[in-house]
Amino acid sequence: MVGTHRLPNRVFVAPMAGVTDLPYRKLCRALGAGHAVSEMAASNPRLWATVKSARRIDHAGEAAPRTVQIAGGDAAMLAECARFNVDRGAQIIDINMGCPAKKVCDAAAGSALLADEALVGRILDAVVAAVTVSCGVPVTLKFRTGPHRMARNALSIAAVAERAGVAMLTLHGRTRADGFAGQAEYDTIAAVKASVRIPVVANGDIDTPERAAHVLARTGADAVMIGRAAQGRPWIFREVAHYLRHGVHRAAPSIGEVRGLLAAHLEDHYAFYGAFTGLRTARKHIGWYVAALPDGDRFRSRMNAIEDCDAQRAAVDRYLADLGDDGDALPGEAVASLLRAA
Ligand SMILES: Cc1cc2nc3c(=O)[nH]c(=O)nc-3n(C[C@H](O)[C@H](O)[C@H](O)COP(=O)(O)O)c2cc1C
Repeated sequence: MVGTHRLPNRVFVAPMAGVTDLPYRKLCRALGAGHAVSEMAASNPRLWATVKSARRIDHAGEAAPRTVQIAGGDAAMLAECARFNVDRGAQIIDINMGCPAKKVCDAAAGSALLADEALVGRILDAVVAAVTVSCGVPVTLKFRTGPHRMARNALSIAAVAERAGVAMLTLHGRTRADGFAGQAEYDTIAAVKASVRIPVVANGDIDTPERAAHVLARTGADAVMIGRAAQGRPWIFREVAHYLRHGVHRAAPSIGEVRGLLAAHLEDHYAFYGAFTGLRTARKHIGWYVAALPDGDRFRSRMNAIEDCDAQRAAVDRYLADLGDDGDALPGEAVASLLRAA
C-alpha cells in the first residue's frame, strides 16, 4: 500500500531520465511492473512550459496510481511543484534524493541533499503539507544510503521522512559518492527496513529473479525496484513477479511476442515524441533490445543510419524475424534461462 493505493505486486520499475518515458512505463506495467515512477520533473516553474518537461508530466492513458517524481533543493518550490503536478493528475508524488547526476546535484538537489538533514526535513514537511495534508496525495522518497561511505546516514534520513509523513521509501544501496561504481550493498537497506513502519523498496543491481528473491530475503523489504536491467528487457517484471510468486521460472518470451512488443513500443514511441525526435530517441531502446542478441552490434550500427520511422520499424522487425520462427524463444533469453536453471 502507498497511502490508499494498493499496488498489484512488489516488482517496480525505477525512474530513469531519458528511459522511463510514458510509452516505456506503460509497456513495463503491461508486462508486470507493479508500480512505475515518471522521469524526474524539474521543480523550477520556469521549466514547466518546455516541451521536455511537458512530456515528462504527461500521463495520458497511464494506469493508476500515476506517480510523478520531482527534484530540487528549495522546499517552497518543491511544494509548489508537487501541487502543480497533483492538479495535473499525479496521484503520488515521489521526491528524488537519489540522483547523483551533476546536472541535478550542482543545483543542490538529488542526492546532494542527503548531506543536509535539516533541509531534507524542511523539504519533506513542505511537500507533505502541500499534497498529503491538503489533498490526501501520498509522498514517497527515493534516496541513497548517504553522501559517501564514511557518512551513511540513511537511518537518520528514513527517520526524518517517517516523522514528516512520507508514505514509502525507496533506497538504492549506494552512496552519492559511489555513483554507479562497485556493488550495491543491502545491509543499510535491511537496517532502514527494520527501523521504520512505512514500506521500504530495495533498489540496486537487481537483474534476475533470483537476485530479486535474495534481496527481498536479505533486506526484509516490501518490494524491489529494477532500473538498468529493464532497459531493452521490459518482460523482466513478469519474470521476477512470477518467480517470487511461484518459485519457478516463467518461459522466456518468443521471437513472435518480442516482434509484436517492439512494434507496439515503437509505434507508441513515435506517436509520443513525433517522427523527428521519436526516430532518434528510439535508437537507444532498440540498441538495448538487440544488445544480447546474435549480431546485435552490427544490426545496431546499420539501424542507427536509418533516417525514417517506417524504415526503422521495418528493419527491426526483419532483424527479429531472421532470428528464427515466431514460436522460438528469443535466443539470448533461452540461453539466460538455461544458465539460470543450471
Ligand atoms: C539512465 C538513468 C537515469 C536515471 N534517472 C533517474 C531519475 O530521473 N530519478 C531517480 O530517482 N533515479 C534515476 N536513476 C537511478 C535509478 O532509478 C536507480 O536508482 C539506479 O539505476 C539503481 O538501480 P539499478 O541497479 O536497478 O539500475 C537513473 C538511472 C539511470 C541508469
